[in-house]
Amino acid sequence: MKAVRGIKQMVAAAKIIKAKGKTVGFVPTMGALHEAHLGLIRRAQRDNDFTVVSIFVNPAQFAPAEDFKKYPRDIKGDARLCKKEGVDILFCPTVKEMYPEDFSSFVEVKGLSGVLCGKSRPGHFRGVATIVTKLFNIVSPDVAYFGQKDAQQALIIKRLVRDLNLPVKIKVLPIIRDKDGLALSSRNRYLSGAERKDASVLFSALKLARGLVNKGIRDPREIVRRVSGLIKTKKKARIDYVSVVDLGNFGPVKKIKDNCLIALAVWLGETRLIDNIIISGKRN
Ligand code: PAF
Repeated sequence: MKAVRGIKQMVAAAKIIKAKGKTVGFVPTMGALHEAHLGLIRRAQRDNDFTVVSIFVNPAQFAPAEDFKKYPRDIKGDARLCKKEGVDILFCPTVKEMYPEDFSSFVEVKGLSGVLCGKSRPGHFRGVATIVTKLFNIVSPDVAYFGQKDAQQALIIKRLVRDLNLPVKIKVLPIIRDKDGLALSSRNRYLSGAERKDASVLFSALKLARGLVNKGIRDPREIVRRVSGLIKTKKKARIDYVSVVDLGNFGPVKKIKDNCLIALAVWLGETRLIDNIIISGKRN
């Protein structure tokens, strides 16, 4: 595995691969890698000639009061995992090079960035869209891989790729869960024992929603009420949002008919976790 820090070096490495007519699969991450990341890496390897993984904790997607400083960083452990998985290039740029002092250009995906997580984390998706665009320009991937846990991020990236005609295909892979259903996330390591126990309520609540839809409930307000009620039974849990939205544009849904996303964000103590499921009014 080749470890690359400089942007120029990464651009040059990608050029050499492309000149050979080979394809590049790209997995952008913020590190603290877990099984869900490894799933993306394995899929990238299966589909492409070369796999590039980036690790960059992106300051632009954290608000000043958020967890940028304490975000888990384990570059050595991550590099070991990438090497074991047979990653070809590990790209770990510096903040200084990615965001020089006079950095002043941002990518904004309007509309989609203002709902759900975008409401509670203003500026977050502008930071994500900007860094992902920069990484795509540097790595020149044929295909980039993202997880469905960050459903809103995935939709925003698909939209920006379409709107800006970026020559990359986006693949979104299903959520990977722990035994009790908790979606894997680097932030799970913040949880205390009691919070971790209560965190399983996120997936229980989503399963409850699916059950209600299967029983014929089509009113999103009823689903939100019942899901919120279950989450509130856990002492450590505080709801940020529970929403039923149209899967195609994350707009509001009056009646559950075709494919919808039930998405939620819940605080467990100081840790904010997100999860979602896709449901259809027809059959789940
Ligand atoms: O999902 C993440 O880890 C990040 O938001 C991403 C896509 C690597 C951009 O920083």
